[in-house]
Amino acid sequence: MVSRFKFDDWTHLYATRTSSLKSSEVRDLLSVGTRPDIISFAGGLPSTKNFPMQKFINVTMALQYGPSEGHEGLRKQIQKIVKEEGVKADSENILVTSGSQQALDMLGKIFIDPGDPIVVEAPSYVGALNAFASYQTNFISIPLEEDGIRIDELSHRLSELKKQSKLPKFIYLVPTFHNPAGITMSEEKRKKISLLAKEYETIIIEDNPYSQLRFEGKAIPPIRSFDDSVIYLGTFSKIFSPGLRLGWAIAPPSVHEKLIFAKQAADLCTSSFTQRVVEKFFEDDSWKNHLEDLIECYRKRRDVMLRALEEFFPEGTKWTIPEGGLFLWVELPDYINTTQMLAEAVREEKIAYVPGRAFFADGKGTNCMRLNFSYPEEDKIYEGIKRLSKVVKKQIGLYKSFNI
Ligand SMILES: Cc1ncc(COP(=O)(O)O)c(C=O)c1O
Repeated sequence: MVSRFKFDDWTHLYATRTSSLKSSEVRDLLSVGTRPDIISFAGGLPSTKNFPMQKFINVTMALQYGPSEGHEGLRKQIQKIVKEEGVKADSENILVTSGSQQALDMLGKIFIDPGDPIVVEAPSYVGALNAFASYQTNFISIPLEEDGIRIDELSHRLSELKKQSKLPKFIYLVPTFHNPAGITMSEEKRKKISLLAKEYETIIIEDNPYSQLRFEGKAIPPIRSFDDSVIYLGTFSKIFSPGLRLGWAIAPPSVHEKLIFAKQAADLCTSSFTQRVVEKFFEDDSWKNHLEDLIECYRKRRDVMLRALEEFFPEGTKWTIPEGGLFLWVELPDYINTTQMLAEAVREEKIAYVPGRAFFADGKGTNCMRLNFSYPEEDKIYEGIKRLSKVVKKQIGLYKSFNI
């Protein structure tokens, strides 16, 4: 593969299929063709003059193909947003994606050969598990505790894998306001994990969709803020709108280049129209008022959920107390199967949740569930937890009546 980057620290990590990914000559020409001094006969661009809505809106470029890496203006906005999170990035290292979900899929594509190990938290974001599973990975699941991944366990598994010459292709983490666990990794652990990744010559994917949604407590700097080798993902889904499908990946230059090839192969470029809409929305600081409104709303909803759990949930159950984000994680006694219980919750009490099993690559989590507090309104949350507690109490009662 011809690379613009002389040094690529990650050649031992890429999947075999990545060597067949290359830059599209047509796409390269397209970016030249957008320069005003060029008369381009190269790409397959429709005539801008004939776009039907041109009379009505003055955003013709929003109807055209755009650069695969994303519009420069939007990448500049993203640069500002991540700076607020403590991450310094050049706009050239930012790739705009169709949601961060697309970045997860492309990372699976460029790194994972069938059977390759990758490290994930247990539980982990189900969309990432699904994306990576489709490349036939071998999941190494490391349990979470209150302040993030179990470092002792991670270190032990990495040294075992090293002995088998099977080091993981990457370590996938959601350190802040974890989906689904609702917890946040401590700063100390973030530092340790960065050192471990270096020691075991692997790369960290830090997925950070939620850190701007902090209700309380002190912000903890992302791993990427002190370690440039981290692949850092973000999204407009949680701070603006998920329907627009806009996210980003900030990666070391050599990985960034592979991601662009994968992006060209997947969809050429992210929708120019949505990029322009979002660029406009984030043009001045008024988006911060919108963020404040979201935080205020979600904080109140979280508080109602926590209060209702305290009031209605029976002894033997516990839950996390998230300082931000959208979810909390409930653990029921280990004899309860939340997948089976869901049918009854929906049928009898008209309540839905996600059973914990979905978030584990290793089959665990059967007694757990993820509860979202950002979507239902406060009175619904209170009523919903009250009804859900009835189902839980019934399950506990049934178990006890058979086991006395
Ligand atoms: C941890 C995590 N990563 C990625 C995503 C995907 O987000 P997007 O809408 O940007 O594809 C989500 C969505 O819920 C998520 O929770």
